[in-house]
Amino acid sequence: MSFTFYFPTKLVFSEEAGSDLLVELASAAPDGVLLLTDKGIIQAGIASKILSKLEEKGFTPVVFDDIPGNPNIPDVKKALAAIEGKHITHVVALGGGSVLDVAKAVGLLLGDPELDYEEVQWHRQAIKKTPLPVIGIPTTAGTGSEVTHVAVVGDSKGFKMGVLHPAMFMKTAIIDGSLMLSLPPQMTSTTGMDSLVHAIEAFLSRKANPVSDMFALSAIRSIVKWLPEAYKNGSNLEARKQMAMAATLAGISFDQSSLGLVHALAGPLCGTYHLHHGLGVATLLPATIEFDAPAIPTERWVSLRDALGLPQDAKPEGLGNFARKLLKTLDMPTRLSEVGLKAEDIPVIAETATKMAMIGLNVRPADVEDCKKVLEAGL
Ligand SMILES: [Fe+2]
Repeated sequence: MSFTFYFPTKLVFSEEAGSDLLVELASAAPDGVLLLTDKGIIQAGIASKILSKLEEKGFTPVVFDDIPGNPNIPDVKKALAAIEGKHITHVVALGGGSVLDVAKAVGLLLGDPELDYEEVQWHRQAIKKTPLPVIGIPTTAGTGSEVTHVAVVGDSKGFKMGVLHPAMFMKTAIIDGSLMLSLPPQMTSTTGMDSLVHAIEAFLSRKANPVSDMFALSAIRSIVKWLPEAYKNGSNLEARKQMAMAATLAGISFDQSSLGLVHALAGPLCGTYHLHHGLGVATLLPATIEFDAPAIPTERWVSLRDALGLPQDAKPEGLGNFARKLLKTLDMPTRLSEVGLKAEDIPVIAETATKMAMIGLNVRPADVEDCKKVLEAGL
């Protein structure tokens, strides 16, 4: 077996993100820091916790909070316009996946102002220079974007494009579950389920390797145990910390192996109905894992079964019901019709899913007809 595991991001599992951020900014000029975040993080009072630490030490960061969910290139350009004429040396990203991904794009463009991001997205320009250091502080558990080497930002027409390159790895990720204490239950469940699917798909990926397996199985074990608790009792700090760590481990696992059919279907499903990514992913899980079940190799099933906390006599064909039960515990829909899927849209969504790169590494090969069957079964 030949594989490469390359992960250059420094991980700080933190009790207090603001203090650890100061360590990372030791070489930064007081006016050289750009803090990217969003309005929800400002309103929740999370940004002020970080900002007060910076200001205590004399930093005067530029704060840009105009980053929507599903950001596009114009949002990246707005962030760049906000720092025009300033000499920024460090980019700090405080938020969910959208903020983290915009920060990667901004860091790349500040490192090489000659680049046109859309040209990079369409592979017409190559990344040649080192980006500015980006320090990510996730506020959800989560997309895992703080540990992946991809940034997903829509092009100028809003078409979601991932830039996949080792330069997109952040310099540092600071993981502090206490920042997630005020995350609403619905966001806790959808982002948490996204993490669980990252880890399951990474473990079942045909590109999985023994190192990514360690991260994936550890994440699965933790999420199954702690997500229901974090959902029901958001103020449980231990549950938040465990979920924060698990989401990061899940991110490392899928970045090093791959995602699979759930994420291939989630792209067009969420795009068609403007669904939250985690909600789409979660609702797709039962029917997709039922499709995958017969192809799971026995020895991998044993490891997955144990990580999920299932009894010794559990069988892969029971995975769909396991997923439905978990979704019900989280008060989430279990059928795709509940999140808006219409039967007449299935052929187009299935067709688009087969063009997503990760589908080729799914544990069970899936063509257009298979995608249609999965969507119909989940409807
Ligand atoms: Fe995801």
